Amino acid sequence: MSIIFNKDEKTFTLYTKNTAYQMKIDEHNALAHSYYGKRTEYDDFSYSSNCNGYAPAFSPNVPDLDGRYYNNHVSQELSVMGIGDFRITALGLRSSDGSLACDPRYYSHEIRDGKYSLPGLPAFYGEDAKTLVVTLKDSAYDIYFHLYYGVFEEYDLITRAMVVENKTDKQIKLEKALSATIDFPCGNYDMLYFHGRHMRERMLDRTRINFAKTTVSSIRGASSHMDNPFVIVADSNANEEYGNAWAFALVYSGNFEISAQKDQWNKTRLVAGINHENFNFAVEPNESFTTPELAMVYSDKGFAPISNNLHKAIRNNLTRGKYKYERRPVLINNWEATYFDFNADKLVSMAHDAAEIGVELLVMDDGWFGKRNNDWCALGDWFVNEEKLQGTLKSLVDRVNKEGLKFGIWFEPECISEDSELYRSHPDYLFKIPNRQPQLSRQQYVLDFSRKEVRDNIYNQMVKILNSANIEYVKWDFNRHITDLFSIALPAEKQGEVYHRYMLGLYEFLEKITNEFPNILFESCSGGGGRFDCGMLYYMPQVWTSDNSDAIDRLKIQYGTSFAYPVRTMGAHVSVCPNHQNARVTPLKTRGNVAYFGTYGLELDITKMTKEEKEEIKRQIKEFKEHYDLIQYGDYYRLISPFTPEESLYCAWEVVKQDGSEALVCAVRYESDASTAQEMVKVKGLCPDKWYRINGSDRKYLGSTLENIGFYFEYDFFSYPSRLYHITLA
Ligand code: GLA
Repeated sequence: MSIIFNKDEKTFTLYTKNTAYQMKIDEHNALAHSYYGKRTEYDDFSYSSNCNGYAPAFSPNVPDLDGRYYNNHVSQELSVMGIGDFRITALGLRSSDGSLACDPRYYSHEIRDGKYSLPGLPAFYGEDAKTLVVTLKDSAYDIYFHLYYGVFEEYDLITRAMVVENKTDKQIKLEKALSATIDFPCGNYDMLYFHGRHMRERMLDRTRINFAKTTVSSIRGASSHMDNPFVIVADSNANEEYGNAWAFALVYSGNFEISAQKDQWNKTRLVAGINHENFNFAVEPNESFTTPELAMVYSDKGFAPISNNLHKAIRNNLTRGKYKYERRPVLINNWEATYFDFNADKLVSMAHDAAEIGVELLVMDDGWFGKRNNDWCALGDWFVNEEKLQGTLKSLVDRVNKEGLKFGIWFEPECISEDSELYRSHPDYLFKIPNRQPQLSRQQYVLDFSRKEVRDNIYNQMVKILNSANIEYVKWDFNRHITDLFSIALPAEKQGEVYHRYMLGLYEFLEKITNEFPNILFESCSGGGGRFDCGMLYYMPQVWTSDNSDAIDRLKIQYGTSFAYPVRTMGAHVSVCPNHQNARVTPLKTRGNVAYFGTYGLELDITKMTKEEKEEIKRQIKEFKEHYDLIQYGDYYRLISPFTPEESLYCAWEVVKQDGSEALVCAVRYESDASTAQEMVKVKGLCPDKWYRINGSDRKYLGSTLENIGFYFEYDFFSYPSRLYHITLA
């Protein structure tokens, strides 16, 4: 049993393979948090949740317990504003009388088989998982707080979400409705977070959680390049293989916040959910509000196990559809090859040359619709530019299919250009504040996807295109962030709902279109990796990781991304040199080796490659396919960080079969110096007592030798060399 309610001690304990999570209905009938950490024998841990301190220290006591109980001192499952908990809180509820307070007390609970789902929101799923719902009720009003817990034993994954149900006869308002509160015991914790910018996503950083609030967040209407809705909280001395570490991933793609802070008693609290800035959601009588889901994974052995468990959970219990497990086609995308300057003949010639070297799908990127020959126009006009395509879309797709390639196409459904048919016929479809000039970003505006008629218009246009030809892949892009937030569909007092309603509209659209076209492979993109999150992965199993295709910059980007997201979700392409984003020149082999640890594809004009280059790419496709299952489904280990050049000139990562029988190490030297020291790397996940060879070497190594001593990297005398080391049983 993974969920146990102890009637006598009034505790709920959630067990996964290696972790335990406990809460208790306390003497105040509140739901106190008692423990989240390493699995142990059952005990009532709740003594640790109430740190009464030696003095109230200006904390108010609740009226009904002889002045002995302070909300401010108790570790809470649901932390709320207004009743003396002065730490960061997850819920701000304004009642119809105008007060900002609520007082949730235990009401009922239910344990059931299978994983709960959240209406209209992405969430992990799984028949083997278990669900606990603890319902709390406000002490004064008929307002219910349903706390959902999903337990996935195998992956040490626990998910959480909350539904606030208004059974009063008056409207209530949520000014803050985050998904979860996690209270940690006294101690020193760090936060690892993944910040960045366009073309530089998910840069790893680490900071001590102290008395000043530490927050990662987005108010851009998308999870963004700048902060990712994923953090790790860890012992201050934790590393890849040592120490307590807790991962928190929001299953949400819009505005979010993850905040943590040490309180006056040295206890750390973390809250995570929808960003409460510009959020104000009315819940009418007999209606409810559902928060997005928070996924949590704990390990007492550092970061590697939490990454691997999250990777498995994302692969098996979040992504869906035909391509969840099916081999994804090796694709070539024409964006960096042609930008807007292409026609059907050009694409067919690319398909022809690509087919010869083993490419399986051609993606026609931006520029095929309306009058779109630059980025100033035509977003919203999802009809084919037949002049440019020299005929119908079907005629082009048929020609590409004839060359032996599948066909894919680019859309940016959520945006609109001022110079477009759509804008001319529906100037009211975009976000625009009355009496203000809307802000342009990449010369475009954002459509109000909270409105059904707006979504329907785009949906119908897309469906027509997708039904008109044999289209087997869609790249779904979103190339700006949201400003001018105002929906003409809502009254003034409900404008604080628009950001979240936009996300609900987007998710509804994605659910509908992916169901309507179950055989299409959808790839999510937002100026590269601006919406790389568990929310989007529920609908689309891969994401264009970054608009930066330079293999060396990609080391940090893919390494950072790997903390939460599996290789199988990372769109990664080989492009030309000098690289279009940073002018760097790298060996073609290195570009291939880095792209292997993603979906591997091409982003270049294959017709302009030399015979030797084509041969090299042909070899790469073959090699990638040979290692496909190992790379896509193996356990992933970060071996040498690209964020610490003072420690090593290399970046290295590894995938290893779960039974330890085979591993592949990729090492890239991203710095050079004269008189270079020879560097070693230690391999992980092998069987200690079995013998292995590296790339078929004569010398055999014991698994434990490779794990404890490692092996030397081979040396190459040129810039940015890379090697793959295939380690197999001897
Ligand atoms: C974004 C994407 C690119 C490309 C362009 C097209 O920047 O990330 O890959 O599709 O849009 O405009």
